[in-house]
Amino acid sequence: MQNHVAKFSRVGFILSAAGAAVGLGNIWKFPYITGVYGGGAFVMVYLVTILLIGVSLLIAEMLMGKRGGADAVSNFQTEAPKGSSWAWTKAGYLFVIGLIIMTFYSVVIGWIFYYLYVAVTGLPTSQKEAEDVFNALYSNAPYLQMALHTLSVVIVGVVLVRGVKNGIEKVNVVLIPMLILILLGLMFYSMGYDSFGKALSFMFNPDFSKLSGEAIIRAVGHSFFTLSIGIGSIMAYAASLPKHTNIFQAGLWVAFLDTFIALLAGVVIFSFLFQFGGEPAKGPGLVFMSLPVIFSQLGGIGIVIALLFFLGLAFAGLTSAISLVEPTVMYLERRWSFSKGGAVFWSSLLYFAVGILVILSISDGFKESFTIGGKPLFDALEFAVDSFLMPLGGILIALFVGFAMKRDIVEGELLGHMGNTVFKIWYFSIRFIAPLAVLFLAYNALKM
Ligand code: TRP
Repeated sequence: MQNHVAKFSRVGFILSAAGAAVGLGNIWKFPYITGVYGGGAFVMVYLVTILLIGVSLLIAEMLMGKRGGADAVSNFQTEAPKGSSWAWTKAGYLFVIGLIIMTFYSVVIGWIFYYLYVAVTGLPTSQKEAEDVFNALYSNAPYLQMALHTLSVVIVGVVLVRGVKNGIEKVNVVLIPMLILILLGLMFYSMGYDSFGKALSFMFNPDFSKLSGEAIIRAVGHSFFTLSIGIGSIMAYAASLPKHTNIFQAGLWVAFLDTFIALLAGVVIFSFLFQFGGEPAKGPGLVFMSLPVIFSQLGGIGIVIALLFFLGLAFAGLTSAISLVEPTVMYLERRWSFSKGGAVFWSSLLYFAVGILVILSISDGFKESFTIGGKPLFDALEFAVDSFLMPLGGILIALFVGFAMKRDIVEGELLGHMGNTVFKIWYFSIRFIAPLAVLFLAYNALKM
């Protein structure tokens, strides 16, 4: 019996963590930034980062959560050896990044809600029409976007207040396999097109002359983003893990599922896009401009697939959103004795309000007043998250687990699952490769 319980919670954890990782980052953001930054070489940097640094950091963050068993701020305090510097005891505040991400994440979830409506009332039949439908929403419907953003804030809030874990795990058991199935189905369908080969070559044939410094920075930032590293999300999920959970295996699974889904989405989206004569650098509307056309061409069944697809995407987004707010809620409850409802209310209000400004920053008639450094607030926040905040969260965790925590404690958690050689590689990656890579990025970002 004991064994059975342990096994379930391990699978449950992998699915929860995968549910937090698999989100808009995979299906909305990854294809769109791959398009903007020119394809192959960008994808290569993203994959290499996940392999060399991302997986290691994911495991490191799981380790901190499992050992600390509390909110991020407390974990950084209790897991540091006595007399550690002041800075370490404050590093846990990185959970605030989750709310910053939510200011635009929730807006995009709103767009997906809108596409559920589009699926029922009439999908666009041509590339041109698909672009018009999206642009009308994106730049010309601020009040509709605000209503949808509000809906998303409320749904996330309600799930958080009612307690997360069980419900979410159950949804994920159905959801992640369903998304994979739909994407696989679409991929097999697109294999019949000439554009399939073109999509593969766009994504996997690197042309390093297209790789700007900015592209490298965003590829690295995104690989942290997509794995949900660096803000205490994974820590919050890992906080309730039983002692013997194999976090090495869990980390590998989560990274594999997450990367697989992103690549699949990319291939599918670019195949359909190229087939109907679209250009890859479409920006945040890419997924909404490429897939609806094919759904409409499939006829009646296409409407069903469109509904399932956007429903799956909405749920993937919502489960990730929950994990973005959860660390703040956990902190307010534990450290400030907020009631659950109060903690959820105040965290939600914060990102809800900034989300309204984010919407205005892309809306005709308002956008001029909401720019930062020449960029709309929407783009500026996304960019700041990838190029600065995600790397910062990642490096803090790497340095903490690599240098502040005692080696024998870290070894005790992992050696049994990893074996000696893999442990040494992992430890090296945490202590040296990750911090140096991030430093290199910071240096380049400053030069930009
Ligand atoms: N990884 C999620 C996605 O790809 C977003 C996300 C959830 C996230 N939790 C996070 C990003 C924590 C950074 C940190 O959509």
